[in-house]
Amino acid sequence: MDDIKYTPSQPSVLKYDANKDYGTPKSDSDVMVTLNIDGVDVTVPEGTSIMHAAQLGGVTVPKLCATDSLEAFGSCRLCLVEIEGRRGYPASCTTPVASGIKVKTQTPKLADVRRGVMELYISDHPLDCLTCAANGDCELQDMAGAVGLREVRYGYEGENHLGQAKDESNPYFTFDASKCIVCSRCVRACEETQGTFALTIQGRGFDSKVSAGNQDFLDSECVSCGACVQACPTATLMEKTVIAAGTPEHSVTTTCAYCGVGCSFDAEMKGEEVVRMTPTKEGGANHGHSCVKGRFAWGYATHADRITTPMIRKSIHDPWQKVSWDEAINYAASEIQRIQAQYGKDAVGGITSSRCTNEEVYVTQKLIRAVFGSNNVDTCARVCHSPTGYGLKQTLGESAGTQTFDSVMKSDVIFVMGANPTDGHPVFGSLMKRRLREGAKLIVADPRAIDLVENSPHIRADYHLNLRPGSNVALISALAHVVVTEGLVKEDFVKERCEWDSFVAWRDFVAKQENSPEALAKDLGLDPQKVREAARLFATGGNAAIYYGLGVTEHSQGSTTVMGIANLAMATGNIGREGVGVNPLRGQNNVQGSCDMGSMPHEFPGYRHVSDNDTRALFEAAWGVTLSADPGLRIPNMLDLAAEGSFKAVYCVGEDIAQSDPDTQHVTHALENMECVIVQDLFLNETAKFAHVFFPGASFLEKNGTFTNAERRISPVRKVMTPKNGLRDDGKHEAGLEDWEITARFSEALGYPMHYSHASDIMDEIAALTPTFKGVSFKKLDELGSIQWPCNDEAPEGTPTMHVEEFVRGKGKFFITQYVPTTERVNGKFPLILTTGRILSQYNVGAQTRRTDNVVWHPEDKIEIHPHDAEDRGILEGDWVGVTSRAGQTVLRAKITERVQPGVVYTTFHHPESGANVITTDNSDWATNCPEYKVTAVQVTKVNQLSEWQKDYRTFSDTQIELSGMDPQTVVS
Ligand code: SF4
Ligand code: SF4
Ligand code: SF4
Ligand code: FES
Repeated sequence: MDDIKYTPSQPSVLKYDANKDYGTPKSDSDVMVTLNIDGVDVTVPEGTSIMHAAQLGGVTVPKLCATDSLEAFGSCRLCLVEIEGRRGYPASCTTPVASGIKVKTQTPKLADVRRGVMELYISDHPLDCLTCAANGDCELQDMAGAVGLREVRYGYEGENHLGQAKDESNPYFTFDASKCIVCSRCVRACEETQGTFALTIQGRGFDSKVSAGNQDFLDSECVSCGACVQACPTATLMEKTVIAAGTPEHSVTTTCAYCGVGCSFDAEMKGEEVVRMTPTKEGGANHGHSCVKGRFAWGYATHADRITTPMIRKSIHDPWQKVSWDEAINYAASEIQRIQAQYGKDAVGGITSSRCTNEEVYVTQKLIRAVFGSNNVDTCARVCHSPTGYGLKQTLGESAGTQTFDSVMKSDVIFVMGANPTDGHPVFGSLMKRRLREGAKLIVADPRAIDLVENSPHIRADYHLNLRPGSNVALISALAHVVVTEGLVKEDFVKERCEWDSFVAWRDFVAKQENSPEALAKDLGLDPQKVREAARLFATGGNAAIYYGLGVTEHSQGSTTVMGIANLAMATGNIGREGVGVNPLRGQNNVQGSCDMGSMPHEFPGYRHVSDNDTRALFEAAWGVTLSADPGLRIPNMLDLAAEGSFKAVYCVGEDIAQSDPDTQHVTHALENMECVIVQDLFLNETAKFAHVFFPGASFLEKNGTFTNAERRISPVRKVMTPKNGLRDDGKHEAGLEDWEITARFSEALGYPMHYSHASDIMDEIAALTPTFKGVSFKKLDELGSIQWPCNDEAPEGTPTMHVEEFVRGKGKFFITQYVPTTERVNGKFPLILTTGRILSQYNVGAQTRRTDNVVWHPEDKIEIHPHDAEDRGILEGDWVGVTSRAGQTVLRAKITERVQPGVVYTTFHHPESGANVITTDNSDWATNCPEYKVTAVQVTKVNQLSEWQKDYRTFSDTQIELSGMDPQTVVS
């Protein structure tokens, strides 16, 4: 055999095989070491284990306690080898390579030792392989075969673990202790990969066992990420779906449809049925890790509530009629034509969703612009991250985050502002926790004590700036004031990379005494000294990276804060390399992509303004139509005009504005006023209850396309099963349609055929018309796995870090960020501030996660209230409390906790009946109309019944479910 060389900088010499388990993690060292394994010279990076080197050289050493996602542990003694000149039998997993050593992995003595080890394991293991759920997919079974174990000399008469009880408390996996070999892979996965530390090995020797803190998995600290299940080499920790359905037969790589991390998964299938979702090792965003949603919460795709038959009706008080695709599409088209003829072309519009693929968003905005004839297209990204688009475009020149997720591993200071990564972006949260355990410093700016503050094992924020909701701009100014007045600006960077005049104006502004932490202390509710120390740490602690979320954007000054964040990064030279940067954590799976695809009324794909003549000419030539140069209506404009009576029809794809947009009563009034509401979705969502046409959508498992995550990573979404929306419940089955096909057929019915035969054709069109996507194609995605845009001639394989040599806009531009307190103020009537957020187990409006077993962790939204505020009001844990704002009232159960500060209450918005948006107001960001969800003045009082809105909602909702032919008693609400 030829000698084998592997170098990290020349991976093409010997490529890693994603399907192989190398036993121990790879080393990134550039120093190469050559050793001899079984007669073959192998050259590998220093720090590689002998086991890993052997595997690279094509030699498999038996192993049980080792797997390449975890650091070596060396407990099972199965991987012993002989090294010439060394005494004994070292474990190959814990022994690093050394230059010139000669290793033997197969000798008669080693075979004997390994068989002896295996014999001991098997003598305390149930011999039910043929009926075991892991049969054929069990490393213990494989190793018994690999070491040639043919008999077990010890009987079962002695002490053993075979009678131990199963823990089936977790809805998604079982723990069958009788099969455990105490290899501790699960414990280490929970610590190293997930960072939750829920498991321990309890006891010693024969009595040692895995424990979830002496309680059931369900009651333990476990967050059901599944890392332990994936790491387990036996059937001890096992997915219940695999136990029920058997081992999968084939798999297709696709992308999670939940959050903006964009984890890559292998959908492991049996025929058309998903048996297991396994995060892929090659996934650029997740490297083989996942959270409970992506790994386990996919059952909604086949839930009984799915509507699979197109439906139409004249009035929202009529029963729905189930019709064919043709009839539904033709009816919708005729209504749009009627309404435009009667009220003008601007009386209609469309709304897309960040849950849609890029291709779906693209064809929808094309339909609105080219066929409806206006720019009245908007997106749910309006209500979350539009200030990011605006603020980063102004300052840096591109409306996107600057880094890869992996970049955090090079950060020395991590500044998390208005984001809750362990709940909202869990896989990235785990990576961040890993870096924090390695010693990076942490600053958290959040009114509430998120888990990272002190609730994650081995992690404690160095500074928790628990500012008053609504004072973000004041905080950014105060931090900047310290940087500027204490001489902490990186002037060389600013001089070389930024517009000096804009810097000087900004510097002089933030240096004013009114922007000092002391002057702003009252607005912030923070100790000025703490703000000063945090600012010094950020500016002088090495690589400093900012991660922010909706706690920054969903404010009346959301865009101002984003610009302030960019100012701070530029002033301290923390941009343009790994470990630093400005990183918006996007909530939903395709927030970045839906914005990229031109889903806002003023921009074509690639953030080019509709008034730009050259851009318009480009799209006019490609689409063969004349396009409007005027920005169209935003969602709030559409709703205001609908409430007034001049906006009459909306095509709403994948978005549920009746639940997710602020001031619910205004939204529902507007919807009631429209003559044709067309909803395309999986379920009869809250908006669909006001609809006249329902196009049943396809789940992410039933379509092809792409999602773009928070690090600009375009990842493939691949069809793993036939779209279920052809399975009509009247028995007249038709071909199911992917969502882009529905839109294309709708367009054709309106007289504008779209000639795509596959989602890849749409991406080809996007690439042809959008410079930052020029080099993207499905073929390249298949080759590379994923691509971070910009991807073009200069960067044919994409761009992990942006603004490296210069900013996209040339020189970075500083903007003055004057703090203007929100008009939503507390007073005697509304003395508390309500702020909102997410929880790990639920997702956005909950339409998907409420239809999975994730409800065991969060069956209802609650209102968190500080013990002092609760005591003042006589509120006890679990009491019903009325939450009243200037916009409305709702009733929720109280959760008393010091996580919120006095004067602040907090809730989530995953259940429609909670009516969180009944109380949010229509205040919004000055630049983008992003709603001010995070600041609502409220009063909280003890009550004993639901609010009037909730009672009306229940009646209306039940009636609408009945009109659809479903049973309100069984439909998930
Ligand atoms: S599922 Fe995740 S959090 Fe729970 S014990 Fe396993 S690794 Fe730990
Ligand atoms: S549960 Fe699985 S991974 Fe954990 S110690 Fe037992 S066999 Fe090893
Ligand atoms: S972190 Fe986000 S993308 Fe990854 S599995 Fe969880 S929900 Fe899906
Ligand atoms: S695999 Fe090396 S000791 Fe277990």
